[in-house]
Amino acid sequence: MTRLVLTTFSAGETERLGQLLGSRLERGMFIALRGELGGGKTCFTRGIAAGAVPHSAHLVASPTFAIMNEYPGPPTVYHFDFYRLGSCHEIAELGFEEFFEGDGICIVEWPERLGELLPQDHLSITFEHAGDDQRTITLETFGKRHEPLLDGLTIVADFKIV
Ligand SMILES: Nc1ncnc2c1ncn2[C@@H]1O[C@H](COP(=O)(O)OP(=O)(O)O)[C@@H](O)[C@H]1O
Ligand SMILES: [Mg+2]
Repeated sequence: MTRLVLTTFSAGETERLGQLLGSRLERGMFIALRGELGGGKTCFTRGIAAGAVPHSAHLVASPTFAIMNEYPGPPTVYHFDFYRLGSCHEIAELGFEEFFEGDGICIVEWPERLGELLPQDHLSITFEHAGDDQRTITLETFGKRHEPLLDGLTIVADFKIV
């Protein structure tokens, strides 16, 4: 499956979806989280950590000021927030690219800032407000490697498919 659109009706549901996905992630995978402030990107990341690196899930916090948070694994989860960075040149200068090619898992908020540094193979997830506690979440894979992540996800998740 390459594209899946679903709706969550609470922050807890979004976190649970993140956890289901997190338990499927493998080394070297790259997740781009898109959408406006308050969309649920950090909330979803909390779920991803709970699924991928449960003993480090309590460490999840918005890395807006730190730019990158690290959640020990194995595999290590690197959580980026590029909101405050101006361009991909700044990101390249800071040397973050090497994490994208490493064997950890990268979760990136505001991947738009990456420009051409965005890896070709990745899973893109877009969060849109659809009401106070409601979010429309679109998951889309780029490259073969991330495709299996979406297979059967809604069966176990039991979310409303749009
Ligand atoms: N269905 C939902 N999914 C995710 N967050 C939700 C949902 N409903 C309400 N919220 C609230 O929206 C906010 C999302 O914040 P956050 O995850 O920090 O967003 P972002 O990282 O995208 O800026 C939280 O306060 C959360 O409680
Ligand atoms: Mg955030």
